[in-house]
Amino acid sequence: MTERLTADDAGIARAAELLLAGGTVALPTETVYGLGADATRSNAVAAIFAAKNRPSFNPLIVHVPAREEAEALALFDDRARQLARAFWPGPLTLVLPRKAASGLSELVTAGLPSVALRVPSHPVATALLRRAGRPLAAPSANPSGRLSPTDAAHVIDGLDGRIDAVLDAGPTQRGVESTILGVFADGLHLLRPGGVPVEQIEAIAGPVQHSTGGQITAPGQLASHYAPGASLRLNATQPQEGELWLGFGPDAAAADLNLSPSGDLVEAAANLFAALHRLDARAAGGAIAVAPIPESGLGCAINDRLRRAAAPRS
Ligand code: TXA
Ligand code: MG
Repeated sequence: MTERLTADDAGIARAAELLLAGGTVALPTETVYGLGADATRSNAVAAIFAAKNRPSFNPLIVHVPAREEAEALALFDDRARQLARAFWPGPLTLVLPRKAASGLSELVTAGLPSVALRVPSHPVATALLRRAGRPLAAPSANPSGRLSPTDAAHVIDGLDGRIDAVLDAGPTQRGVESTILGVFADGLHLLRPGGVPVEQIEAIAGPVQHSTGGQITAPGQLASHYAPGASLRLNATQPQEGELWLGFGPDAAAADLNLSPSGDLVEAAANLFAALHRLDARAAGGAIAVAPIPESGLGCAINDRLRRAAAPRS
């Protein structure tokens, strides 16, 4: 059952309690309602993808109450700090190098070495982030492929029964998602146009490259999308000579690592990127065989990422 919570002290306290228990809670931001979960827990993050029925694991934006909390998760250079001072709190998301000791789930960044960070300006979002004391991953709170929700009724229409709670603070003000800006070594890149016009960013930080043509970047289109050094062979019911074997389910008891010995797709999704990183380090440029994953529920997203990781590279 999805709890309807009023955005008062009691409602915010209950929302924080559910989040700390690994639950999913839809929360208001100044742009759209986000579907939040503890960004440090892979199972909680996997539950976001399951609730949205998302067919691939896009990296998610991590929300924090202020720049101080953001600096614990990512490396800020002078450009990043200047942008944060100018536009936070507000609808600007910065993509920055993730700190090694950030504690963030690998699933939230889809295995990337970078992390997208945002400090929302909605007072209820700020209060909940402070109360929970954890960074929250939050994509828009709608089923995959549907419109982003700008009030709690939209959230209920799409996700009733699939999430733990919605924190109702009335309609959001902006209705368009945050601007996503990559702060990369070779300059600033507009990854998604949004609530902060690019002209305002350029006025403060200089020229911004529109390298993606203004389209939302799916992770498979990101230059830096996760590809292991090892080659991957999919749908492998057993390993061949010299291959490491990434298993799934009880039939793969002999695997080097098993995404979920019981065959649970939420658990498998939560383990996916960390498992690939670990086997990749052990394979040292060799090969990894991956057991078949059912093409249903979160299995679709797992297979999407595996196919991208296995695709030939230039
Ligand atoms: O306004 C918003 O930004 C809303 C509210 C809820 O805060 N959130 C939102 O989040 O739109 P989400 O998770 O749907 O945005 C995810 C997008 C990805 O599809 C990708 O384009 C970009 O953020 N992204 C996330 N992490 C990235 C990374 N490490 N590198 C490049 N792009 C990244
Ligand atoms: Mg969305």
